Amino acid sequence: MSINMLTSVAEIAKNVKETLSDAEGGHDWYHIERVWKNALNIHQHEKKGDLYVIQLAALLHDIADAKFYEGDEAIGPATARIIMTKHQVPEKVKEEVIRIIENMSYRSSFSEHSYTSVELDIVRDADRLDAIGAIGIARAFNYGGFKNRPLYDPNIEPVEILSKESYVKNTGPTINHFFEKLLKLKDLMKTEKGKELAIKRHEYMCDFLEQLYTEVR
Ligand code: ADP
Ligand code: NI
Repeated sequence: MSINMLTSVAEIAKNVKETLSDAEGGHDWYHIERVWKNALNIHQHEKKGDLYVIQLAALLHDIADAKFYEGDEAIGPATARIIMTKHQVPEKVKEEVIRIIENMSYRSSFSEHSYTSVELDIVRDADRLDAIGAIGIARAFNYGGFKNRPLYDPNIEPVEILSKESYVKNTGPTINHFFEKLLKLKDLMKTEKGKELAIKRHEYMCDFLEQLYTEVR
């Protein structure tokens, strides 16, 4: 990467950190930093993909998540564009980063997939790793608390999520989110390193659930 690229990555990171200073705990700067590190780690093993695009997508992927903006799916890409323009990111890179952000979320995996790239696979795996394991458990319950969802309610069964609408509308207990989404992520990983790292985190969640059900039943 050139000096210009390095400077713009560092400056954009700073900008993201400031923008997310009031964010929900699971989608704050430290989530972004973990995803950034995971993405660099995966890239190092894959030896594929443009590192500039990967880093900008990792940094900007949750800059304005629709679920915190009444479902507005345009605000994330638009905010990312404004930041990249401010930091003179070349047009071609900007478009690639935007396309990754638009296609990265679990929500968007229910839409017809028109876009795939090595960079998308790497950043999405990096984000999904942060949704599982010990950190994934912490984030899920924090999000549930933020939304005032019950932790656990034996009268509400997990639902099978087959569409974006049912995923977004779902207000079930946080524990159900494990069965509805988090336990599925391991098998959705695209990169070799992502798959490898997901196994241990997945097992940790299974142990947690086993212990939890032993305690509450
Ligand atoms: P999406 O919003 O597309 O699911 P995210 O990757 O932003 O994608 O979701 C991130 C994290 O937010 C989840 O991994 C989880 O920790 C938390 N989260 C989202 N929805 C729920 C939910 N219904 N219950 C608990 N946690 C949730
Ligand atoms: Ni994320």
